[in-house]
Amino acid sequence: MVVTRNHKTHAAKQPLKKSQRNYEQQKYWNDRYAAKLIGETIDDDVDDDGDHTDEWYFSYSDISDVLQSHLKKHHRHSPVLDIGCGLSKIFNELLKDHFLGPFVGIDYAPVVIKQCKKANRNDNIHYLILNMLQKRKPDLSFNSFGLIIDKGTTDGILNNEANLLGISTMYEHASSFLSSNGIFLIITIKTVDDTEWFEGCLIPSLIRGSQNQQTKFIIHFHECATYTDGTENGPNIFVIVKHDCKSYSLRSSTNQSKQDISQIVTVKCY
Ligand SMILES: C[S@@+](CC[C@H](N)C(=O)[O-])C[C@H]1O[C@@H](n2cnc3c(N)ncnc32)[C@H](O)[C@@H]1O
Repeated sequence: MVVTRNHKTHAAKQPLKKSQRNYEQQKYWNDRYAAKLIGETIDDDVDDDGDHTDEWYFSYSDISDVLQSHLKKHHRHSPVLDIGCGLSKIFNELLKDHFLGPFVGIDYAPVVIKQCKKANRNDNIHYLILNMLQKRKPDLSFNSFGLIIDKGTTDGILNNEANLLGISTMYEHASSFLSSNGIFLIITIKTVDDTEWFEGCLIPSLIRGSQNQQTKFIIHFHECATYTDGTENGPNIFVIVKHDCKSYSLRSSTNQSKQDISQIVTVKCY
């Protein structure tokens, strides 16, 4: 893998503290959304970070500058998938920015999918109850999504580090659903320096998930600023672009060594 560091703007920072909320559990999310529906919060956990937001980390307008530099015309004409959509308003914002969709939001919390369906009665926006950690391939088209979004979902799942193995399934699915030249956007507190996740899980899963022997990935890593109070990392933005190349790839050899990965994945850090 080739890693280049272009004008890295921020010094190394402390990682976010791990939350004691059960962000990795389906029941946690379902209860949280159900409570929200009746105007309550589930606040019996010990950490008190005032975390009752509907839009995690960034809205689309916060990240659109970064995204614009990677977007091509075809992305606005392709299906969009949001993995762990929750109550995010990102589809509405993408529509305003001339993305045509169709838009597919998936989440494993049935309560939130019901809420989303009720709130977004638009023929172009679809919601499905789906657990992205399931081994069986979800019933979505391969190589079809021009934009796949994971905003906060990785971090919820990896609140329990034992899920590192399980989350590889989610990345494999995402990779297989991504169209050629499509973008997989991951917004996360993870960085390229979390090698167990980045090199040990994300990259191999992307490669396994791609159907085409000649697929390559360029991973643009945008490290973000600290929150304004300066105490913690802001989340970072991974823009992963899948390219189906016509040229010969070393992956066609039977033994895939570490060197082969450098032919398949390029990482650029900003
Ligand atoms: C931190 S919230 C982010 C919500 C939304 N993406 C946003 O940015 O506002 C994580 C969401 O991922 C969903 N989720 C977690 N694990 C999932 C899984 N295995 N399959 C599908 N959805 C999942 C949760 O139900 C929750 O709605």
